[in-house]
Amino acid sequence: MSEPLWWQRGVIYQIYPRSFGDSTGDGVGDLAGILQKLEYLDHTLPVDAIWLSPIYPSPMADFGYDVANYVDIDPLFGDLDTFDRLVEEAHRRDIRVIIDFVPNHSSDQHPWFIESRSSRHSPKRDWYVWRDPQPDGSPPNNWLAYFGGIAWEWDEATKQYYLHSFLKEQPDLNWRNPEVTAAMFDVVRFWLKRGVDGFRIDVAHAIMKDPELRDNPPNPDWRPNAQSPEHDSLLTVHSAGHPDVHGVYRDLRRLLDEYSGERPRMMVGEIHIFDWPRWAQYYGAQLDEFHLPFNFGLLDVGWEAAAIRRVVDGVEDALHTLGGWPNYVLGNHDTHRIASRIGQTEARLAMMLLLTLRGTATLYYGDELGMVDVPIPLDRVQDPFEKLTPGRGLGRDPERTPMQWDAAPNAGFCAAGVEPWLPLADSYGEINVAEELADPRSMLTLTRRLLDLRRAHPALHSGSYRPIDPAPDHCFVYLREEQGERFLVSLNFSAEEVMLPALDVPNGTIVVSTHLDRDGRADPARFTLRSHEGCVVRLEGGTGTLS
Ligand code: NOJ
Repeated sequence: MSEPLWWQRGVIYQIYPRSFGDSTGDGVGDLAGILQKLEYLDHTLPVDAIWLSPIYPSPMADFGYDVANYVDIDPLFGDLDTFDRLVEEAHRRDIRVIIDFVPNHSSDQHPWFIESRSSRHSPKRDWYVWRDPQPDGSPPNNWLAYFGGIAWEWDEATKQYYLHSFLKEQPDLNWRNPEVTAAMFDVVRFWLKRGVDGFRIDVAHAIMKDPELRDNPPNPDWRPNAQSPEHDSLLTVHSAGHPDVHGVYRDLRRLLDEYSGERPRMMVGEIHIFDWPRWAQYYGAQLDEFHLPFNFGLLDVGWEAAAIRRVVDGVEDALHTLGGWPNYVLGNHDTHRIASRIGQTEARLAMMLLLTLRGTATLYYGDELGMVDVPIPLDRVQDPFEKLTPGRGLGRDPERTPMQWDAAPNAGFCAAGVEPWLPLADSYGEINVAEELADPRSMLTLTRRLLDLRRAHPALHSGSYRPIDPAPDHCFVYLREEQGERFLVSLNFSAEEVMLPALDVPNGTIVVSTHLDRDGRADPARFTLRSHEGCVVRLEGGTGTLS
C-alpha cells in the first residue's frame, strides 16, 4: 500500500475535556488543563491524535452535545486563544487535533433555535423540524427520543411540535434546508482555518430523516428490560440514515479535501450500525465520504474469542473490495469502561487486541490505566440519561470520572480541597499514572509497550491481517505482515492454559506478553499461552510459507 497517512497509522486518544485536567480550580477540566498534560500524550503515552469531546458554549443539558454556539469555546473550558495555543502546541509535538462536530441538533438556547421558535413565520423556522399535530392533537409520528419518551416537543406559543432525537433541549436541525447546510459547512471551515486536523461527527447518520416522517416500525428483537432503552423498541429506519445522508457527507468530504493540501484532514463518524456491509457504505462508494465510520463492534460483542473474530473478519470482508480503512474502539464516553465490562486481566488482552489489529485504534482516556466505572451517589448524578432512566445502569457518569494522575488528593486532577465534578474512583491510589509508571507490569506499562511496538513496526498497524486456523477454543490467533516483517498475535480468552497447535511458521521472539513477564525465543511447535495471556511474537525471516 502507499505510505499510510497519520489517521491510518496512528492511535487516536479520546479526551473527555471535563475530566482530564483542571487548571482553574473549579473541579471541571479545561483546555489549559489539557495543555499541561500534552507532555504525557507526547512522551509517556505516545499517541498520534487527540479527539476532544465538545468544548463549545453550551447550557450543558447533555454536557456539550447541546451546542449554543458552534464557533466559540465555553468559558468553562477556556477561550479561542487557549484553543489556538493547544492546537499549536499539539502540532509542535506532532499530535493532531480532532474536535467533535454535532450536526444533528443544537441547543434550544442556540440563537438559531430561539429565532426559529419565535414565530411560524420566522426566517429560521425551517432550520429545525417543525410539524403540526395530528388531528387528535398527538405528535406527528411515533419516533422516540434516545433518552426516553416521544421525540416531539409541543410548543404552546406557536402550536406546533419540534423534533428532538435526544433531549428536548436538543432540537434537530433540518439538513434538508440548504441554508442549514451552508451555515454548518461554514462552521467546519471556521475550525479548519483554525488548524484542526479532523472532526468526530456526532450521530452522523441521523441528520437525514425520511422526508415524509413516516412511523418507525417495531423492532421484533426488542424485549423490555432494564438495560435496553425504550428507544430500541422501534427500528430507526425512518428517523435516521435516509440515503440522502450520503450526499451531505460527500460534500463535506470535498470541503475537507480542499483544506488537505498542506496536511491531510479527516472525519470519523459516529455510526452505530453493526451490519458490516451497510456500515461500510459510510466510507462512500468511491471512498469519498467518511475516512472512518467508527466501528463499535468491540463494544457490542460478548467478550469471547469466536465472537470477536467474527467482528474482525466481518469488518475485513466488508472492506476488502472497497478498500476502506478499518478502525476499532474499546471504550468511549457513552459506554461502561472496558475494565468494568470484562475485568482487569481481560482488559489487558483487549488492549493487545486493539493495538495489534489492522487499522486505526481509538483509545479512551484512562483505559490505558485500567480505570473502572465509578459508582455515582444519587446526589452526584450529572448525566441526563441517568436522571431520565434512574437506576437502570444506562447512565454514563461512571465512565466519565476524572483522570487518575497520581495518588495525591483528587488524583492530581484538581487541587486538594476542590470537589471534582464527578467523584473519583476509590482505587485511584493504585490505579494512576505515577504508580503505574513505576510498575514494570502495570496496564500503563503494557499499553506503552504496545504503542511503541506499533509505532516501530508498520506490520502492526498497516500490515495484512490473516486469522490462523484452527485456533484452540477460546483463542484468537492472527498474523500481521508488512514489508517482510511478520508478527504472530495469539490471544487466550480463557482462564485455562492452552497450547497452540503446531504452526507452520518459523521460530520467533516474544516481543510482548500481556503478563509482561516473559520474552525471548518462541517455538511455534510448542507455544503455550497462560490463563488470559496474549503474546506478540516476531517471526524470524521475512518471507516463507504459512499453511
Ligand atoms: C452521541 C454522543 O456520543 C452522546 O454523548 C450524546 O449524548 C449524543 N450523541 C447526543 O448528542
